[in-house]
Amino acid sequence: MAIMRLGRVQLRVPNWEKSVHYYKNVIGLIETARDENHVYLKCWDEHDHHSVILEKADTAGLDHLAFKCETAEDLDIYERKLVDYGVAVERIPAGYRIAEGEILRFRVPTGQTVELYYEIDVVGNGLPLVNPDPWPDGLVGIAAPRLDHLLIAGDDVEGTTQLFQDVFDFHMAEKLIAPDGSYIATWLFTTNTPHDLAVIKGPDSKVHHIGFWIDDWSEVRKAADIMARNDVMIDAGPTRHGITRGLTIYFFDPSGNRNEVYTGGYMPYADSPTITWTTEDIGRGVFYFEGEVNDRFTTVFS
Ligand SMILES: [Fe+2]
Repeated sequence: MAIMRLGRVQLRVPNWEKSVHYYKNVIGLIETARDENHVYLKCWDEHDHHSVILEKADTAGLDHLAFKCETAEDLDIYERKLVDYGVAVERIPAGYRIAEGEILRFRVPTGQTVELYYEIDVVGNGLPLVNPDPWPDGLVGIAAPRLDHLLIAGDDVEGTTQLFQDVFDFHMAEKLIAPDGSYIATWLFTTNTPHDLAVIKGPDSKVHHIGFWIDDWSEVRKAADIMARNDVMIDAGPTRHGITRGLTIYFFDPSGNRNEVYTGGYMPYADSPTITWTTEDIGRGVFYFEGEVNDRFTTVFS
């Protein structure tokens, strides 16, 4: 496994002050740096300097997503593989952003900018590496321990899915297919969760949601309490997905980017068979308890 995990998302947030406050005090991310137009944040149980960057912008949306590789050489290996695959790549030297090393940047067929990196400053998770307690003091809000996954949209779901399978050896946990067999959505993984990245038919270059991990169903209930207390607009849930079997709430940040808190799900391996969902059972697939999907969930992207 050369790509270790989803390491970073950079979100555009027009509602700047409220959004920074929300990510720090409602989601419970920890600020590690800022410059004039960006705030760098990490989830408490991540060791790297940041996993979420907020960017002052006129419109909401995703600037880029980034995966962390296992070794520095992986950037060279993937550069060659991408070029052989016909994808244009760009190398960006270390120091382009705070605490980051060299970056390999490219665009996927659904339009999003993706970066690969190996080097990033390590700041720790607030716990000692010898005889630690289960969590540190001073956590606030939902206190999501880590970034989990994201769902990106675009027309060429096949193309982006195939690229992650062919170039990065991602596996497909589940797929939602149209009556003609084409992909409406795919759930792809390189770790042992049902999705590190999911791709859905929709407007190019957009993001449907970014998902934060929380530990269990009681944390989902607590997250809903915290959202209610902070007037967070809930989109759906708390509920369960048929797809991934995960437990979930969808909600919006003050700039209109959809977030999710997610837990549960099964543990897939490279040899796990791909599960197929068909359009007639999509309600149960997306929201298992309700058996139907609200319009906003299928039409709002950022
Ligand atoms: Fe999700």
